[in-house]
Amino acid sequence: MQVQVKILVENTTPVPGLIGEYGFAAHIAAGDKSILFDTGSSGALINNSRILGVELDKLDALVISHGHFDHTGAVMPVVEMNPALNVYAHSGIFKPHYVDHGVGNPVPIGTSFSLKDLQKKGAVFQEVNSFTEIIPSIYLTGGIPRTNNFEDAGFGFQTEVNGKIVADNIPDDSALVIRLPEGLVIISGCAHAGLINTINYCLQQTGCAKVLAYIGGTHLAMASEERIQKTIQALQDLSIDSIAVAHCTGFVPAAKMQQVLGSKLIKAETGMVFNY
Ligand SMILES: [Fe+2]
Ligand SMILES: [Fe+2]
Repeated sequence: MQVQVKILVENTTPVPGLIGEYGFAAHIAAGDKSILFDTGSSGALINNSRILGVELDKLDALVISHGHFDHTGAVMPVVEMNPALNVYAHSGIFKPHYVDHGVGNPVPIGTSFSLKDLQKKGAVFQEVNSFTEIIPSIYLTGGIPRTNNFEDAGFGFQTEVNGKIVADNIPDDSALVIRLPEGLVIISGCAHAGLINTINYCLQQTGCAKVLAYIGGTHLAMASEERIQKTIQALQDLSIDSIAVAHCTGFVPAAKMQQVLGSKLIKAETGMVFNY
């Protein structure tokens, strides 16, 4: 199976005419399947897909990584373009999501639509809360166990339980995994579960020993020096060919990873295309 991954939305772009937009979205052509992974935060997806030759109205599946606005902002237009579209995600994407930047004022950052809104437009919501093969050789992780002691979901995320604002470790955070004979291609939105937790869980669940590529956010932008160093060490210990970091990675963590990992480390931006 040939796989092509196009970055449709990322914070930045080196290509004139494309729009850089806070968030993430990628198109995956895998064999004869057309899959959209996340949608960015608003309209860039539509503009960039047209320029990059992605037919948004001919999707076989929409996969949502987690319930933050910068990954779900264009879900409704995409659903409207594709009658009876299968939408795969963890059920937790619909719960309230907030962020508090340390001033005691939770700001809503969740989805702008409900499950009912999706269904009213004819979408078929496929709940994936645990590791599932959604298309032959293509898997969605569902919730990712937080197994190591140096990664966390990120600063200030909150949700609401029984009317009370409480800390949120974003259990809905999920990654897409494509299994090829040579190894795995892993695509994540923000990796709130942790970059290393995510990769290790994909290896464990598939029984594969090798990662061809990780593509997506890593949520290291606010990470401690200790976490960055432990992440780099873990990446060196893994059998991984390429890490295309995006979105919430941050310049300094990306630069520190690049210093050690060299050409294995790529800064993924809007318009980049990866073939496997
Ligand atoms: Fe994000
Ligand atoms: Fe996020």
